[in-house]
Amino acid sequence: MPRAKRELRFGIIGLGLMGREFGSAAARWAHLLNLSFIPRITAICDTNEKLFEWWDDNFDGIKLRTTNYHDLLGSADVDAIYCAVPHNLHAGFYTDIIRAGKHMLGEKPFGIDAAANAQILEVINQHPDVVVACSSEFPFFPGAQRVIRYINEQRFGKIIEVSAGLLHSSDLDPNKKINWKRMVHMNGEYGCMGDLGMHPLHIPLRAGWMPSNVRALLSNIVTQRPDASGQLVPCETWDNATLACEVQTADQHFPMVIQTYRISPGDTNTWYIRITGTEFSVEYSTKFPKTLRTMEYTSGGEQAWKVVDLGYETAYPTITGGIFEFGFSDGLLQMWAAFCDQLANGRANMMQSYYCATPTETALHHRVLTAALESGKRNQVVNL
Ligand SMILES: NC(=O)c1ccc[n+]([C@@H]2O[C@H](COP(=O)([O-])OP(=O)(O)OC[C@H]3O[C@@H](n4cnc5c(N)ncnc54)[C@H](O)[C@@H]3O)[C@@H](O)[C@H]2O)c1
Repeated sequence: MPRAKRELRFGIIGLGLMGREFGSAAARWAHLLNLSFIPRITAICDTNEKLFEWWDDNFDGIKLRTTNYHDLLGSADVDAIYCAVPHNLHAGFYTDIIRAGKHMLGEKPFGIDAAANAQILEVINQHPDVVVACSSEFPFFPGAQRVIRYINEQRFGKIIEVSAGLLHSSDLDPNKKINWKRMVHMNGEYGCMGDLGMHPLHIPLRAGWMPSNVRALLSNIVTQRPDASGQLVPCETWDNATLACEVQTADQHFPMVIQTYRISPGDTNTWYIRITGTEFSVEYSTKFPKTLRTMEYTSGGEQAWKVVDLGYETAYPTITGGIFEFGFSDGLLQMWAAFCDQLANGRANMMQSYYCATPTETALHHRVLTAALESGKRNQVVNL
């Protein structure tokens, strides 16, 4: 007899790049072992009806397909929603979803700017029974899980420096057509920071490393791009941002450098984190997805980095053998398992300890990005 699993009925709003990744993760749930819950996609929504076809081809059990997301909010077949729409729609969609009492995994940056984020958080506070989290998958990479463990174990001694980033490169091509992510009114004034910033900031913020100030260097490298008809139009969003921050905690004081680059030649979604300390250092990058570098140091000892291939070491156990490589879609599957775990068992009783980015963490990241924007514009250090 198959063991019954609790079904979590999901609606998906926004069936683009990320919506489909979530659909695929749901279809791959058998990859995960020993879970007592399973997501079922029961409703889909996008203004572009052509996108329904892929879902119809690959999923049974979709009861509602619609171009109007309000239909999902009133549906008795939907317990929770994954929402992946352009940033200018976040505040309106997210607050409507939460007010309708549907649990929500929303996409970053969780509001196009700090004001939109504050609106979302206000509605969350008015609905404490609704489970809300923000998507951010990199902490679920095996190397990131190790970094988090070392942070929790306070292995570093005095922290020397933290650096983290997310680096893309396809915008190096000046003939790449403009899309909503390169338009201020849809992506937001943060530009690359709004699109990429949650990824490098998530682990530092969870560690309690909120910057006390920031000096940002912002670059707009490709200032015009062809539109759909081939005509050149202004491309006003920031391409690259380097944030030099100062972190002061109860017992640590160190610099933290955050990079969000759309134009980092050769990098395809390279996420990295490096923490150096007087007693221990660690470095992980998705460029080498299995490889973790660490260095332990005691006075007078040799300064030798150790390199370990981690393989498929995951928060939630899977069918994949430990020797194999972990990738983006695996990170997403693990993150979704964490959100479903939180829904099914409550945050205090999850099967493993790393929960998805919280609404409070999204507010902290907006504070950093808003200060960075101001710093970049004024050429000054901005206190947080
Ligand atoms: N976590 C990650 O790794 C990651 C990666 C990429 C994007 N994102 C985030 O996901 C979100 C979506 O990005 P994407 O890359 O999937 O974009 P996308 O453009 O591929 O998809 C967005 C979809 O929203 C649909 N849409 C637009 N207006 C709508 C409306 N009124 N009602 C319903 N659907 C509507 C569009 O038709 C499109 O299909 C953004 O917040 C982005 O920052 C996250």
